[in-house]
Amino acid sequence: MEPTRDNAWETLTTYTKSESLLRHGLAVEASVGWYARHFGEDEDFWRAAALLHDFDYEMHPTIDQHPQDGAPILRELGYPEDIVETVLSHAEHLALPRDTQLKKTLFACDEMSGFIHACGLVRPTGLDGLEPKSVRKKLKQPSFAAGVHRDEVYAGAEALGIDLDRHIANVVEALQPISGELGLRTAADAA
Ligand SMILES: [Fe+2]
Ligand SMILES: [Fe+2]
Repeated sequence: MEPTRDNAWETLTTYTKSESLLRHGLAVEASVGWYARHFGEDEDFWRAAALLHDFDYEMHPTIDQHPQDGAPILRELGYPEDIVETVLSHAEHLALPRDTQLKKTLFACDEMSGFIHACGLVRPTGLDGLEPKSVRKKLKQPSFAAGVHRDEVYAGAEALGIDLDRHIANVVEALQPISGELGLRTAADAA
């Protein structure tokens, strides 16, 4: 398999049927793709890595299997080792080095895109008008989107070397164009 966005989407949708997991994949893809453009990197490759990062989660929902048991499947499909390594590196429990810009970006976008998605879902205008300040406030409310690991949100921005508010604004901007696919309303819906 060539590590293209379209092949990665095919692999993801072969192994994943849950709408929320597919939306998570799309949100991380959009965020990582935003940063690929921002850094002048290979957007198609970065998007492929993002789409694949949780491709095995539906069949391997626990940390004793995800993502490590997915890696042999990716190798079997013929994905190159740098994709496999990047996918493995997003998992905190594997404690692998995040020694490329893509690995840092994937980690920084994984929990953050989930959190911003959750913020958008409770707003009548979705992501439109969502300010970093209100995202930060919600990050401090443990009961809101309780499944999102706050420590990973903060560590991700730090590893990327981007100010938290800037990172929030970037991910909001990245997700806005796919609001419809993410099930989010927009200011146009509220008008
Ligand atoms: Fe994961
Ligand atoms: Fe993820």
